[in-house]
Order: sequence, then structure tokens, then C-alpha cells
Amino acid sequence: MSYTLCVYYSRTGSTEKLMREISQELGCELVRLEDGVDRSGLKGWLRSGMQAMARKLPPVKPFRTVLPLSAYELVIIGTPVWAGRCSAPVRSFLREHGEELRRVAYVITRGSDVRYEEVYDQMDLYVRTPHVGAVTIRPDSVGADFWRDSFLASIRDGGKGSGHAG
Ligand SMILES: Cc1cc2nc3c(=O)[nH]c(=O)nc-3n(C[C@H](O)[C@H](O)[C@H](O)COP(=O)(O)O)c2cc1C
Repeated sequence: MSYTLCVYYSRTGSTEKLMREISQELGCELVRLEDGVDRSGLKGWLRSGMQAMARKLPPVKPFRTVLPLSAYELVIIGTPVWAGRCSAPVRSFLREHGEELRRVAYVITRGSDVRYEEVYDQMDLYVRTPHVGAVTIRPDSVGADFWRDSFLASIRDGGKGSGHAG
């Protein structure tokens, strides 16, 4: 059994697709976070951006994992970039559970060419030890698959790298 967990939030499916691929490659459990907030349309987009900017913590709905979070050797956390920050539901997850996680790695998706590597540091504020791997990917960019695979290689190698694409 793999002691790696993939957990993510996705509003429009890009982070979900990437996290699904990563969890399949690693043969590990995949959990989607939900917060019950209506994030559809322009109103939802604006609400999401404002929440991220204000570092709001919308309650995340209860989710199930096979093991207690503290039992996983590695938790890979996927989030879209919202207004230069991690998404509000992922911030809520980190705030609530960050201290329980033994080792973390980050998968960040974004819509622009800006890499937003500072988001790693923002997320590290909620966990006990800094991330052991990370990647920032623009899902439709030419290098996206290459950077996903580089991230996977670093995780298989024990988690030692950071990367970015596009
Ligand atoms: C409210 C909001 C704010 C965003 N802000 C940024 C941003 O600051 N920089 C950026 O490159 N992309 C930004 N994006 C684009 C998303 O990060 C990008 O499309 C991401 O891959 C979407 O992931 P998802 O389909 O899993 O929700 C924003 C999207 C939303 C909804």
C-alpha cells in the first residue's frame, strides 16, 4: 500500500486532471476538497478572488481518507493560483490540517506565464516542515507534461525538487 495521499481543490477541472494523472502514476489515493461555496460564473470568480486576497478560510466539507492524515508519509496538495495566492479551500485545508501532515509537496496550476513560486512559501506557513517537492504548471502550456513528469521523478526519488512549466 502506498503511504502517499493526493488532495486538491479544483474549480474548473485543470488541477483535478493533473492531480488525477499524478495519483494514477504514483498509485495513490486521491481526495477532492469541496467547500460548498458557489464559485460559478463571474460572481463566483470574483468571490473566489476576493476570498483568496483576504486570506479567507471557508469551511471545507468533511472528507474521507483511508488512513489518518498523520499516517501518510507524503501528502501532495494541488491548488489553482487565485489572485497570486493559493485557493481559499486549500488554505482552509492547510489551516485545519497542516500540523497533522508529516511531509508535503505542492502542485500549483495557473493561467498565466507568471510562476508564483512564492505560493509555496505561503503554504509552508501552515505545515510543520517545508515542502519536499513542488511544481507550478500552466496546464495548456507546451512544457506541462514534461514538468509533471519531472515532478513525479523527484517524488519517486524521495522528493527533492521544485519545478515549473511554461
Ligand atoms: C478567482 C481566480 C483568480 C485567479 N488568479 C490567477 C492569477 O493570479 N494568476 C494566474 O496565473 N492565474 C489565475 N487564475 C487562473 C487559474 O489559476 C488557472 O486557470 C487554474 O489552472 C485553474 O484551475 P482549476 O481548473 O483547477 O480551477 C485565477 C483563477 C480564478 C478563478
